[in-house]
Amino acid sequence: MKLFSSVSDVQDIKQLVASALALKANPYAYGDLGKNKTLGLVFMNPSLRTRLSTQKAALNLGMNVMVMNMDKEGWALETQDGIIMNGTTVEHIREAAAVMGEYCDILGLRSFPKLQNREEDYNEEFFNKFVKFCGVPVVSLESATRHPLQSLADLVTITETNPISAEEKANGKVPKVVLAWAPHIKPLPQAVPNSFAEWMSRAQAEGMLDFTIAQPEGFELEESFTTGAKISHNLDEAITDADYVYVKNWSSYKEYGKLLDFPEGWMMNNEKLKLTNNAKVMHCLPVRRDLELASEILDGPNSLVIHEAGNRLWSAQAVLKAMLEELK
Ligand code: CP
Repeated sequence: MKLFSSVSDVQDIKQLVASALALKANPYAYGDLGKNKTLGLVFMNPSLRTRLSTQKAALNLGMNVMVMNMDKEGWALETQDGIIMNGTTVEHIREAAAVMGEYCDILGLRSFPKLQNREEDYNEEFFNKFVKFCGVPVVSLESATRHPLQSLADLVTITETNPISAEEKANGKVPKVVLAWAPHIKPLPQAVPNSFAEWMSRAQAEGMLDFTIAQPEGFELEESFTTGAKISHNLDEAITDADYVYVKNWSSYKEYGKLLDFPEGWMMNNEKLKLTNNAKVMHCLPVRRDLELASEILDGPNSLVIHEAGNRLWSAQAVLKAMLEELK
């Protein structure tokens, strides 16, 4: 694997999930694979889980790790071509990415959308230029439109905790997974739900689960990410008999970058949980308690959020392992 930016970069998702779970069972089995190899993690935006889990994953594989907080410590980057750099930007991404590629065998990049220009964000201009100019394999640590390491960890978590018995499975039963929109006070990117939707749609196509998205009118995701998913504008109907509810806010794709009014009744709480099949509740974190998701769920037995965050480590390790195996 030379690029991990979306589910399309993965040939066999079941094999990658199995690899993550095997690494979880035996974290140091490939402790020499990354010897004398360096991972560079480049952050244009804040992070807790992605930063620590990816570093730890690389250390488990014997890699050296360097972290660059470009937003705070680097030169102000120019991304546009053909302009005279007589403003505030100091270094062009052409040189910056190429230089990082000189020091590192694999690079990870986090670059959120600006939520100002939908075309620019959805063309992944920054991420794609970084990949083009750095000249080494790249792992997305969340780009403008996707967060594949999170989605892989989510699929690992669902696979690991799947409540369907062997007998039910033999009769074709699969877990019902619902991506449920939640309220927020700020317009958030669509990267996590876009990515979750395309990973779950692929898993559904491979017979691993059944996938529904619930959101209020006006919060539909860009269509190419949701092909194959059942779409609902009624949260209570959508979560009925669900085995997993994946809670997440996202801002409107249609009214790009705007904070829209939203209807009442979209926060998951214990009352709504009664409609489900005793569903496990997931969230990528960070989460705003009692705005996005009720504390009674986060602190209760149905929450999978810490387990899910823990699986970020094994997901990152599986991806780095696949990349290192191709470097050899
Ligand atoms: N879920 C996630 O990516 O967390 P961080 O933003 O803290 O890395």
